[in-house]
Amino acid sequence: MKAVNTLLVAGSLMLVTGVALADGESVYNSGCAACHATGVAGAPKVGDKDAWAARVTQDPAVLYDHAINGYQGEAGVMPPKGGFMNLSDDDIKLVVDYMVDASK
Ligand code: HEC
Repeated sequence: MKAVNTLLVAGSLMLVTGVALADGESVYNSGCAACHATGVAGAPKVGDKDAWAARVTQDPAVLYDHAINGYQGEAGVMPPKGGFMNLSDDDIKLVVDYMVDASK
């Protein structure tokens, strides 16, 4: 339920704060934040430099691939596109860039 609440809060904040946000950030807030804002299921929290340190040294192509096609790592399972199959591969890349920038 915590994840759902986070999603709802993030969604309402988006409505309140309006338009001038980057696409990656808005998609992150409306979807990926459900796990990545709080670390649900072992997801690396966005902004947690330690959790991302080893990940951001990888080729971005590896991160894109893991986010698009899914990934089973030591921490848990990243579902393909976080389960948001309506997102395009390019959407996912924008979000990954946002998450990486916010976490290093
Ligand atoms: C159901 C929970 C969940 C959702 C929703 C989710 N993730 Fe993840 N994600 C995970 C978990 C768990 C991991 C850690 C896997 C591991 O390293 O063991 C992860 C890892 C990642 C990684 C790091 C992969 C790597 O190679 O280190 C990226 C990038 C990522 N997620 C992007 C996204 C994006 C983009 C979205 C939204 C479209 C998203 N995630 C939504 C659970 C989730």
